[in-house]
Amino acid sequence: MIRLRKAKFLIIWFLTRNPTQRLLLQAFLYGPILFSLYLMFRVHQIMEQVDLKLITGSEGTVEHKYWKPNDSYNLTNYIQEFEETALIMPSGLCKQKSLLTVFVTSRLDGFKTRKVIRETWGNSTRFNYPEFIKMHGHLKGLYKPFLQSRLLLYAEHLRRENYSLYASVQIVFIVGRSNSPSSDSTLSKLQQEAGQYNDILQEDFVDTYNNLTLKSVFALKHVNNKCFNNSAYFLKTDDDCFVNVPNIIHFLLGGTIPAYQSHRKGQTRLTATKGVLMGYAFFGNKPIRYSCSKFYLPNYIYTDTMYPSYLSGSGYLMSMDVVQRLYKAAWSTRLIHFEDLFITGFCSIAAQVKPVHSPLFDLKTIHKACFIKGGVVQHDVGIAGMKDVFHRLTNNKTNCAVKRSTRILTVY
Ligand SMILES: *[C@@H]1O[C@H](CO)[C@@H](O)[C@H](O)[C@H]1NC(C)=O
Ligand SMILES: *[C@@H]1O[C@H](CO)[C@@H](O)[C@H](O)[C@H]1NC(C)=O
Ligand SMILES: *[C@@H]1O[C@H](CO)[C@@H](O)[C@H](O)[C@H]1NC(C)=O
Ligand SMILES: *[C@@H]1O[C@H](CO)[C@@H](O)[C@H](O)[C@H]1NC(C)=O
Ligand SMILES: *[C@@H]1O[C@H](CO)[C@@H](O)[C@H](O)[C@H]1NC(C)=O
Ligand SMILES: *[C@@H]1O[C@H](CO)[C@@H](O)[C@H](O)[C@H]1NC(C)=O
Ligand SMILES: *[C@@H]1O[C@H](CO)[C@@H](O)[C@H](O)[C@H]1NC(C)=O
Repeated sequence: MIRLRKAKFLIIWFLTRNPTQRLLLQAFLYGPILFSLYLMFRVHQIMEQVDLKLITGSEGTVEHKYWKPNDSYNLTNYIQEFEETALIMPSGLCKQKSLLTVFVTSRLDGFKTRKVIRETWGNSTRFNYPEFIKMHGHLKGLYKPFLQSRLLLYAEHLRRENYSLYASVQIVFIVGRSNSPSSDSTLSKLQQEAGQYNDILQEDFVDTYNNLTLKSVFALKHVNNKCFNNSAYFLKTDDDCFVNVPNIIHFLLGGTIPAYQSHRKGQTRLTATKGVLMGYAFFGNKPIRYSCSKFYLPNYIYTDTMYPSYLSGSGYLMSMDVVQRLYKAAWSTRLIHFEDLFITGFCSIAAQVKPVHSPLFDLKTIHKACFIKGGVVQHDVGIAGMKDVFHRLTNNKTNCAVKRSTRILTVY
C-alpha cells in the first residue's frame, strides 16, 4: 500500500516536473499500450493480408475441405434452370416497377442483422431520395444534379410526394437451407419472419460459406426471371455492408456525389444505362495455394496463376441487361466457389461484359461515416456500425470536409 503510494507520487512528480519531460514520459508510458491495442485490433486484417499477398507460392495440391476433385463443377447439377425450387418467396417480387432491386446475402440465423438492416439502410421508405438533399443539399453547386433525361427514362420507377422525389427500391434477403433437421426452430422463426416482412427468399441448397456461388446464381435466376421487365438495376451485397441508398439513387439518375474523403480524386458520373457492371475491382489477384487459407484454391479447380479482373462481392451493381447476360453465361462457366470471382470474373468474360471499378464502392474495413456519406457501398460495417452510421447520416450530425473540385470522372 505504502509502496504503491510512493510509486504514484513518483509518477505525478515526473508528470508535473516540466512540460517536455512530461510529454516524453507520457509518450513512453502510453505509446506502447496504445500501439499494442491497435495491433490487436488489426491482427485479423493483417493476417488476411499476409494470406493474400505472401503465402501464394505453395503447391495447391491439397484437397479442398469441401470442393473435392470428383465433385461436379457444372451448375446444372445444383440449380434447375426451368423449375421453381424456392422454398420461401416474397409474394409479388418485382410485380411493381422499381429503380433498384437489392439482394442481400444473409444467413438462416441472421435474424438480428436483418432486423438492423430493415431499421437502417434497408428502410427505403425512410432512407430514400429526400435524404440525399438533407445530406448534401448545402453543397449545392459542388456536385452534379440528376439528369432530366434519366427522370424521363425512369419515370415509371419514380414517384413524387410533396415535391420530393422517391425511387422505388426493393430489398430481398436470400438464404439457403440447413442440412440438419435439428434446426426446425430456426426454420419456423424464418418462416414467421418471412410472413411478417415479405422480404425473404429461401432457396433449395445447403447454406454454407463455400456455397456462396450458388446463392448468388440463385439471386441472378430470380432477378432475371422476375425483375427483368420491371426493375432497372440490380445490386448484390452482403449483410455486413452498408448501402447508401439515397446516394445510389442520385448516381443512377446521372448525378454525382460530393467528393468527401476517399472520393477526392473526383466525382463519378454514370453515363451509361445499359451494360453496367460496377463495384470495387480487383486487378491481377493471384489464387491462394496455401491450404489453410479461407481463400485456398487447389489446382484441380483452377490452374492458372492469375485471376481475371473481378469485383468484390461486398457490392456489385449491374443494369438488368447485364443480369440476363451473366445469368445466361453461368450455365456454360465452370463453377468456382468464390461467388464474386465466378459471377463478375468468369461469367463476365463469357458474357463479354467488362467489370468496372468505381471509387464509390469501398472495401476499407475501418468505417468512417464520411466514407459512407460520399460513397454507395461500404464493406464490413457490422450491426453497431450500421446503427451508428445511419444515425449520423440521417441526423445530419456528420460534418465532412469536401474537396471543392469540379473534376468529373465519367464511367463508360
Ligand atoms: C473419382 O472418380 C474416378 C473415376 O471417375 C474414380 O476412379 C476415383 O476413385 C474417384 N475418386 C474418389 C476420391 O472418389
Ligand atoms: C421505416 O421508416 C418508416 C418511416 O419513417 C417507419 O414508419 C417504419 O416503421 C420504418 N420501418 C422499420 C422496419 O423500421
Ligand atoms: C446539414 O449540415 C450542414 C453542415 O454540415 C448544414 O449546412 C446543412 O444546412 C444541414 N442540412 C440540414 C437539412 O439540416
Ligand atoms: C405530405 O404532406 C402531408 C401533409 O402535409 C403529410 O401528412 C404527409 O406525411 C407528407 N408525406 C410525405 C411522404 O412526406
Ligand atoms: C452446396 O449445396 C449442395 C446442394 O444443396 C450440397 O449438395 C453441397 O453439399 C453444398 N456444398 C457445400 C460446400 O456446402
Ligand atoms: C417481359 O416482357 C416480355 C415482352 O413483353 C414478355 O415476353 C415476358 O414474359 C416478360 N417477363 C416477365 C417476367 O414478366
Ligand atoms: C454443364 O452441362 C450442360 C449439359 O449437361 C452443358 O450444356 C454445359 O456446357 C455444362 N457446363 C460446363 C461448364 O461444362
